[in-house]
Amino acid sequence: MNAAIRAVVRTAIYHGAEACGIRRGYQGLIEGDVRPLPVESVSGIINRGGTILLTARSQEFMTEDGQRKASDTLARHGIEGLVVIGGDGSYRGAKVLSEKWSVPTIGVPGSIDNDIAGTDCTIGFSTAVNTALDAIDKIRDTAHSHERIFVVEVMGRARGAIALEVGLAGGAEAILIPELPYSIEKVNQKIIAGGQRGKKSCIIVVAEGAARGEQVAAEIEKGTGYQTRVTVLGHVQRGGSPASLDRVLASQLGSAAVNLLMQGQSGKMVGVSGHHVTVNDLEYAWTAPFDTDRRFLDLAEILSI
Ligand code: F6P
Repeated sequence: MNAAIRAVVRTAIYHGAEACGIRRGYQGLIEGDVRPLPVESVSGIINRGGTILLTARSQEFMTEDGQRKASDTLARHGIEGLVVIGGDGSYRGAKVLSEKWSVPTIGVPGSIDNDIAGTDCTIGFSTAVNTALDAIDKIRDTAHSHERIFVVEVMGRARGAIALEVGLAGGAEAILIPELPYSIEKVNQKIIAGGQRGKKSCIIVVAEGAARGEQVAAEIEKGTGYQTRVTVLGHVQRGGSPASLDRVLASQLGSAAVNLLMQGQSGKMVGVSGHHVTVNDLEYAWTAPFDTDRRFLDLAEILSI
């Protein structure tokens, strides 16, 4: 997100505008926690994980009173356009500000889960995948040496994009995601068949929204008789120096958001398709059909026999 903040600030200044940052998202807007972001305020942040502006979930912004306070803060500070970085919850707030309170607003997709329609990739996804993959590679060394089955639980409550990506890239023997049905019975059969051929170690990747790692491991142990171990990667996936792909994406999208505001646009979200920036209405994020591509799942299955 820092790379996106940098891009917003620098593009605004390039166009002769001033930039300011609101700390803790909508909650900061309600509380008036606004500070100027001059050109040097975003120096040296492109390589830092997290966000210098901090983040929070605001219940108060759901209320009319909270929204009025937020819009008063914007007016008081002479803010003429707002860039909101986040997921579809943040976009719903952005739509309210744009439509009900006439605040020009553009959404930038930020989520490690790659769960926002209208973009090939969300900011953070690539970094999270690299972190999880690095862990899986290390776990595989132990799995192989000790001849054990490892269940690795990755983040992804509603979408299994991280699991799919690292499962394929890490050579996982099975990938379980919330969007598509799976059978532990089939996983067990695969492990047993592999064992009969002399394959004594496996990596099973499970997205947290599909099942808990512990539960999957228990069912595998019961069904196969093999020893299992569980690693829950958790919040380690949310930090760290951003991958090149994320820095480039955040730079493109932060800059594109400011360009749209300068053109007088509002109520839009930016994304990418290939290397090209795309623009959609904010509600596209929650109304567009979001089909999980099962080709990765099928390919991982074929390649990990
Ligand atoms: O929405 C992104 C996400 O990283 C999910 O994958 C995860 O379940 C959730 O956030 C964790 O949120 P929190 O840190 O609030 O528990």
